[in-house]
Amino acid sequence: MSERAIGIFDSGVGGLTVFKEVLRQLPGEEYLYLGDTGRVPYGTKSPRTVLRYALEAAAFLHARQVKALVVACNTASAVALEAIEEHYRVPVIGVIEPGARKAVGVTRNRRIGVIGTEGTVKSGAYTRAIHRLDPGVEVIAAACPLFVPLAEEGWADHAVARLAAAEYLAPLQQAGIDTLVLGCTHYPLLKQTLRALLGEAVILVDSAEETARCLTLLLDEGSLRRISAPRPPRFYVTDVPTRFERVGGAFLGADLTGVEQIELDGGGDVIVPLKSAGANRSELI
Ligand code: DGL
Repeated sequence: MSERAIGIFDSGVGGLTVFKEVLRQLPGEEYLYLGDTGRVPYGTKSPRTVLRYALEAAAFLHARQVKALVVACNTASAVALEAIEEHYRVPVIGVIEPGARKAVGVTRNRRIGVIGTEGTVKSGAYTRAIHRLDPGVEVIAAACPLFVPLAEEGWADHAVARLAAAEYLAPLQQAGIDTLVLGCTHYPLLKQTLRALLGEAVILVDSAEETARCLTLLLDEGSLRRISAPRPPRFYVTDVPTRFERVGGAFLGADLTGVEQIELDGGGDVIVPLKSAGANRSELI
């Protein structure tokens, strides 16, 4: 069991911020990363649709015998984590609980801000997770939809990002938050902009770091750490890989090559890897 790979999925490139942190904390493992680039974004879609997508993504990785599943996407974690846990026997880790736990641990005035996609904020998943840990904490949540395209455009430190951040975060600043949960895969790229706006007094909680820590604990508790030499990670996407390779390289801080395009089929049991179905990369682009 310990020799099996760890499966990570996200709606696209964003989850690479989580993967980067997981890789830093657990370099000795083998990873399968799936980015559902054909159907991104999840953050603007209904919970029902995201649930279906997430179950299909989980099915794809589960069929490859992973020993643990990481739901790197905040929106998918918010609406689909329990369903995935119910469907599969492997340990499943989402990004909401680890981020909430860290935020509750570091806040001093018990006023926590949460930013995420529309779907994540509407789901109330962070608020529920924080209140499970401390019902007395005040949670002020805001959707920041423009941050996703800005990060992908490489404009995380651009004047446009600074304007958007000032607008989105004004109510959180007025509420006097001392902790801000970056509840979306893309937001760690905006740390500098957020730090400049909020100052040093507000603690930024990066869900990716906490999720990687939880995964480490989980592997240690289950004696699931890989013993033999690590294998290179494999990347799968559901649209042509070109954009994922280009944008994802910046997210991961490393070159991304050999990304394979696959199809996620309906219920998730019949999945056709396009390459093994006889198509080559040039036919797919
Ligand atoms: N990965 C998504 C999240 O963390 C952001 C991008 C999207 O909307 O799909 O919520």
